[in-house]
Amino acid sequence: MNNSLSCQIAGILFPNPIILASGILGITPGSMLRLAHAGIGGITTKTVGPRVRPGYSNPSIIEIGEGTFLNSVGLANPGIDQMEIEIKEYKQQSSIPLIVSVFGDGPEGYAEIARRAEKAGADAIEINISCPHAEVASIALSEELTIEFTKAVKRAVSIPVFAKLTPNIADIIPIAKATEKAGADAIVAINTLRGLALDYKTGRPLLSHGIGGLSGKAIKSVGVRVIYELYPHISIPLIGVGGIFTWQDVLEYIYAGASTIQIGSALFQGDEIIPEILDGLFEFLKENQIENLNQIRGKAHEYSSELEVMPKECL
Ligand SMILES: Cc1cc2nc3c(=O)[nH]c(=O)nc-3n(C[C@H](O)[C@H](O)[C@H](O)COP(=O)(O)O)c2cc1C
Repeated sequence: MNNSLSCQIAGILFPNPIILASGILGITPGSMLRLAHAGIGGITTKTVGPRVRPGYSNPSIIEIGEGTFLNSVGLANPGIDQMEIEIKEYKQQSSIPLIVSVFGDGPEGYAEIARRAEKAGADAIEINISCPHAEVASIALSEELTIEFTKAVKRAVSIPVFAKLTPNIADIIPIAKATEKAGADAIVAINTLRGLALDYKTGRPLLSHGIGGLSGKAIKSVGVRVIYELYPHISIPLIGVGGIFTWQDVLEYIYAGASTIQIGSALFQGDEIIPEILDGLFEFLKENQIENLNQIRGKAHEYSSELEVMPKECL
């Protein structure tokens, strides 16, 4: 049997399902190329906007539990002028697909950054409408704004557009449907969860900005739950993100309904995690005679009818 980890999203062929999540290492061509050499299947850049943005001062990222982080980087980025140079340099040296994450001033601002990223060589655009410690947080809380921003970017480029959604909402399904209706080619979920850590002696917030975004091990079950909830309602591909550290974590997301995944905080442990996850996945497919991940995508839903629900008379 020919087992393969490759996967196709919106016509883009990723050699394997591990894509770098936005904001983690995807800033310089050097770090992106290093990850490509380590075997990553796709790269998402740091979210880039119209101009240099310093972000919040340190401490802007802290580890609050083993493999669990709180950050308020605040969309620090080098600006699109610099990113264009970096996209070109990366594309000259690597064929691993490059997704450029963008934000801007209003829908047209997003569209302009996306247009420039496409021209520089991006394979896809990810619209960040969900960062919990920046102005863009509110976009993916509104169906109208989600449609407006997604449509503006779709109109501006001919490469695929992925929309990155927030878990900081009671019901994510209407927002996901709105992105689909606006023509998004895939949904990326989840961005970080709003969190706060305090100094137990003084009560002072530990991050310079106060509230930040929670990522890493603690959020995996939230990400898996979001993908699980979206899968029956959404027909565009779902890209699962949040707390993935092992090959077993990847499988959970695929069973929930993800077509592929992104990995962020786990890379703070080092690049070795990439071949470790790939080896584990490959062995699992081989041992279980599974040709590719599509075969097991959404498998968790086969058990829906077996899950317990409270009988009406108990309500
Ligand atoms: C330090 C840091 C910076 C981040 N910056 C961005 C960003 O610029 N754009 C974005 O869409 N997500 C950003 N994220 C969110 C990640 O892409 C990802 O959605 C989140 O961390 C959950 O995945 P993980 O648990 O694997 O880290 C950032 C996360 C961290 C930890």
